[in-house]
Amino acid sequence: MSDLIFMTGATGVLGQELVKKLLLTTDSEIAVLARSKNRVLHSERVQKILKTAGMDSHYGSRVRVIEGDVTKHKFGIAKPDLENLKLNVKVFYHIAALTALNGSEKECRQINVGGTEHALELAWDLRKNGKLGRFVYFSTAFVAGSVWDYRSKEDALPEKPVFANYYESSKYQAEGKVREAMAKGLPVTIIRPSIVVGDSLTGEVSDFNVIYPFIKLFAHGILTKLPTHPENTFNIVPIDFVINATAAIMKDPRSLNKCFHLVSPNPPSIGSLVSLRESFPQSAEIEMIDPSDFNKDRLDAQGQMVFSMLEPYLGYLNGKLTFDTSNTEEILRDTDISMPVTDHAFLKTLITYAVKAGYLVI
Ligand SMILES: NC(=O)c1ccc[n+]([C@@H]2O[C@H](COP(=O)([O-])OP(=O)(O)OC[C@H]3O[C@@H](n4cnc5c(N)ncnc54)[C@H](OP(=O)(O)O)[C@@H]3O)[C@@H](O)[C@H]2O)c1
Repeated sequence: MSDLIFMTGATGVLGQELVKKLLLTTDSEIAVLARSKNRVLHSERVQKILKTAGMDSHYGSRVRVIEGDVTKHKFGIAKPDLENLKLNVKVFYHIAALTALNGSEKECRQINVGGTEHALELAWDLRKNGKLGRFVYFSTAFVAGSVWDYRSKEDALPEKPVFANYYESSKYQAEGKVREAMAKGLPVTIIRPSIVVGDSLTGEVSDFNVIYPFIKLFAHGILTKLPTHPENTFNIVPIDFVINATAAIMKDPRSLNKCFHLVSPNPPSIGSLVSLRESFPQSAEIEMIDPSDFNKDRLDAQGQMVFSMLEPYLGYLNGKLTFDTSNTEEILRDTDISMPVTDHAFLKTLITYAVKAGYLVI
């Protein structure tokens, strides 16, 4: 049997693309953890995703589906499946998370912190009693919170980050647990993307999560006041770069026990993002207000409601957070993968795809 990869989060935006990449570029078999949802069986969900990608011929042969939920001890995996994982898993990707920026404290703790604790417990078991060679953890560049004027390093967590939402704080705690395990000898690689958006050439993405709902707020004229400066930047990264860079990182033995920022070296400004509203006839003029002069109590009732939808995103609009990418650049130097370009033309590509897919309406 070839190497077995075990992956959580394979039904999500990044997981789906990573499964495709692994099927196309390796001969590994992949066991994916999935749950049943909306009365669709866990296995049917994965089969459908593979079918959409034109890869359903691998279902049941190279891709096997294991039912489970990361909030449960050992993910609630049935004993025979656990035994099989123990015998064969070489690489374990823990990607599953609650990515909603407005997720509650309880949900984020259960899924992101609790889920990672369960993943680590399983990883130790697969390491001590099996063949696990590496635990790959998908963290986020925003474990650094939305602190101002902070340069986040790859090989450490900041001491006192200021968080914009429970998603960030729970991912910070979860990465802390992964780092503790790494210090105790678990072989680990940590991947920290910034805000993942569509493909660099086509804008294509399988779901419009994280930053897209914010774009919808201003594209559809709901947002008229924004506490930020137009020159502030927000860090987005195309999904193909994240997947290609992750594959390159995994191939390079120097990536063991290291962390990698997968971010844009030249992120776009808020001003350039907001200028895209010109493509949307129903969008309104947006007034950018210095955050220190902004008082949400002065907004009318509708403004306060919009502001409450906006709050989880504010960190991404106000932060002067920058990211060191030394580890990533060192690995990519020996490949044909370049750091991503996220200029105005790329923003237009993203918007054009979101309109074509019916997410944004012109
Ligand atoms: N997207 C970004 O902008 C971004 C940026 C930086 C880091 N990341 C990190 O990258 C990872 C993947 O992000 P994504 O955008 O692909 O997320 P996503 O599209 O929201 O997918 C989340 C995945 O986690 C699974 N999941 C959630 N709760 C679960 C549970 N209780 N048990 C089992 N599976 C569960 C989901 O399964 P269901 O399909 O069953 O819900 C889905 O497969 C996350 O760890 C995220 O923190 C993402």
